[in-house]
This record gives sequence, C-alpha cells and structure tokens, in this order.
Amino acid sequence: MEAFFNEYKTIIVFLHVISGVVWIGGMVAMRYAAHPSFIKIESPAKRLELIADALGRLFKIVIPFVITLIITAIIMIKGYSLSQSDLSVFSHAKEGIWSMMFINIMVMIYRKNLAQKLLHKGDFVGAKNQLALIGSVMVPVNIGLGVVAIFLGTYLSGSL
Ligand code: HEM
Repeated sequence: MEAFFNEYKTIIVFLHVISGVVWIGGMVAMRYAAHPSFIKIESPAKRLELIADALGRLFKIVIPFVITLIITAIIMIKGYSLSQSDLSVFSHAKEGIWSMMFINIMVMIYRKNLAQKLLHKGDFVGAKNQLALIGSVMVPVNIGLGVVAIFLGTYLSGSL
C-alpha cells in the first residue's frame, strides 16, 4: 500500500480534499443559500416537496464523495503509517468524525425519504416534522464536524 500511495500521492490527497470541499460546501450552500429562499414559498405542500427534492439531489451528489473520502483516508492511514505514528490520535479523531458524519447523513436520507412518503399521503405535518430536524440540527452539526475534520487535516498536512 505504501508503494501505491507514494506513486499516486498527489491524486489521492487531491481526491480526499475535493471530497471534503464538495461534502461540506454542498451542505453550506443548501442550508444557508437555498433553504432561506425555499421557506419563502407560501404553499406548505410545494415548499416541503421542493425542500425534500433539493435534499435528495444534494445527497445523490455528495454520497460518491463521502465514499471517496473514506477510501482515500484508508489509503493515507496505510501510506503514511498513521496508526503507528505520533499523529495516530488525530487520525483516529478524523475517523470518528467521518463515522459520525456518515451516520448523520444516513439518518438524514432516511428522514427525507420518509418525508416524501408522508407528503404523497398528504400528511404535511408529519413531513414537516421529518424535514425540520434536518435543517435546524443535522446539517449544521455535520458542517461543524466537517470544519473540525478539515482543521485536523490542515494540522496533519503540516506535520507529516
Ligand atoms: C476518515 C478519516 C480521515 C483521515 C484518516 C484523514 C486523513 C487526512 C490526512 C493524513 C491529511 C493530510 C494529507 C496530506 O497533506 O498529505 C488530510 C487532509 C485533509 N482532510 Fe482528511 N482525513 C479523514 C477524514 C476527513 C474528513 C471527514 C474531511 C472533511 C469532511 C477531511 C478533509 C480534509 C481536508 C480538506 C484536508 C486538506 C487539509 C490541508 O491540506 O490543508 N478529512 N486528511
């Protein structure tokens, strides 16, 4: 794995960084640029339908980057021998953060799918309950975790 990593180091680190940028950037754009415009739509049915639709599109875009992020992370853990180094605590912290972000996004996908089913049944209150937590808590939590992961990445980058 070390030889493979050394051969393709630039592309592997690039894929890792761009994955973090798309994942975090996508959530920031959705939450703080698109969402405030969506909530101006007066019809609750249309508003909830469009929010769920946009969330679905966002998740489809970011999932390949979420997977690329963990694959490149595993390659770097092996390539830099991070688990055996003094930097292992930072590597483990980033693994923990990725895991929390992954569980969070999976729960968001579940809630978004449930909201769409409830919308089809005409249960707007149920759909709103499912979507509200995504915007108010789950996306901001993932943005915060992502920012910490990027900070730890910058520290690792300067220390390797
Ligand atoms: C899954 C566990 C993770 C590990 C083991 C890991 C490991 C690393 C390492 C070793 C570097 C330095 C690469 C180099 O300079 O050669 C790095 C950089 C970086 N990581 Fe991660 N990472 C993980 C998760 C994440 C997550 C979840 C994000 C964001 C969502 C992220 C975003 C970044 C970014 C943006 C950089 C570039 C920082 C810079 O070069 O200044 N990483 N990571």
